[in-house]
Amino acid sequence: MASDLDRPRILGIETSCDDTACAVLDGAGRVLASVVSSQNVAHRPFGGVVPEIASREHLSNWPAVSAQALEQAGLSIYDIDAVAATRGPGLIGCLLVGLSLGRSIAFGLDRPFHGVHHLEGHLYSPFLQSNGEPAEEVPERFTGLVVSGGHTSLLDIRGGRVTSLIETRDDAMGEVFDKVGRQLGLPFPQGPVVDRLAEKGMASRTLFKVPRVKDELFFSYSGLKTQALREIRSLEERGLFVRPPAGGCVPEEELPQPVLDLLASFRAAAVQQIIDRLRRVRNRHAIDTLAVSGGVAANRLLRAELIRWAETASVNLRLVSLKYSGDNAAMIAFAALMRQRLGLADDPLGTAVASRIPFD
Ligand code: KG4
Ligand code: ZN
Repeated sequence: MASDLDRPRILGIETSCDDTACAVLDGAGRVLASVVSSQNVAHRPFGGVVPEIASREHLSNWPAVSAQALEQAGLSIYDIDAVAATRGPGLIGCLLVGLSLGRSIAFGLDRPFHGVHHLEGHLYSPFLQSNGEPAEEVPERFTGLVVSGGHTSLLDIRGGRVTSLIETRDDAMGEVFDKVGRQLGLPFPQGPVVDRLAEKGMASRTLFKVPRVKDELFFSYSGLKTQALREIRSLEERGLFVRPPAGGCVPEEELPQPVLDLLASFRAAAVQQIIDRLRRVRNRHAIDTLAVSGGVAANRLLRAELIRWAETASVNLRLVSLKYSGDNAAMIAFAALMRQRLGLADDPLGTAVASRIPFD
């Protein structure tokens, strides 16, 4: 018999980019099911996400993904107490699929509906447990670092109110990992491949620099990207690397050592920028708990350096579990649970999608 703590059971839907995801969470924040269907195979021939293909894939993947999630949770759709779907930011056609599904289910079952900001989903995800245990209690106040393909944001959260501390001025961290990997002809999604290959290289401390900041703190990754692309061209000109023809992929084991070293240096500089900004922001702003989330939170070096920094700075570090670092629907359901606890809900018929939504 379900206890009160187990209610509400929330069905989460996430389709903002190229993952079709459905999850079921209980009222204690236990993940009863989390299914993510990746579209990597469909997008791989193009080296990146093709929005039109992504929306169609969401539509065709949804029946199996949702059926699997309910089966894993051991529930029927009628056992669901509330429905949550990502309303943005993301690719419009993709968001429309998930939000329309969520709105219809909530309206049809007469259940509360939550249109969730994608970033809000990532923000609370470090408090989800990957072992079926209830979610950790979310502190009243914490600092959130979201590093993904679309965001590099340091945020201050107090009682559910979010204020931006540092944003990227240009590219997001994941985006530059993808672009550098793409230039080398690595398979999509390139970020995790670059991370893996960087492990085999020797980083030079002098090749790439962390952008300097004075009074105003910001992240900036476009300079690092441009310089990395220039270095790749230079390797090609010197005959140290041969790029595959357009659409082709280089077998990883054939990448020469200078390329691996370049990737190690690139990754080190990208990670160092995060640590540098954390050090600086801490001179102005107390950080007790730092919750790190987003696809790039899976980066091996970033995780290791954050653990090191948090130890020396006596910061309580909450690193998202690898299960929930990339896009998933458990995080969307969890953000909705937070909203429901605050007595918030949206009109299922009145909630619209948006490709960009300010977060503050
Ligand atoms: O959070 P996410 O799944 O989607 C967005 O909201 O953007 O993040 C995806 C991003 C991609 O850019 C992907 O290449 C990057 O996260 N990523 C990584 C790693 N794993 C995923 N970047 C660097 N190192 C990784 N291990
Ligand atoms: Zn995301």
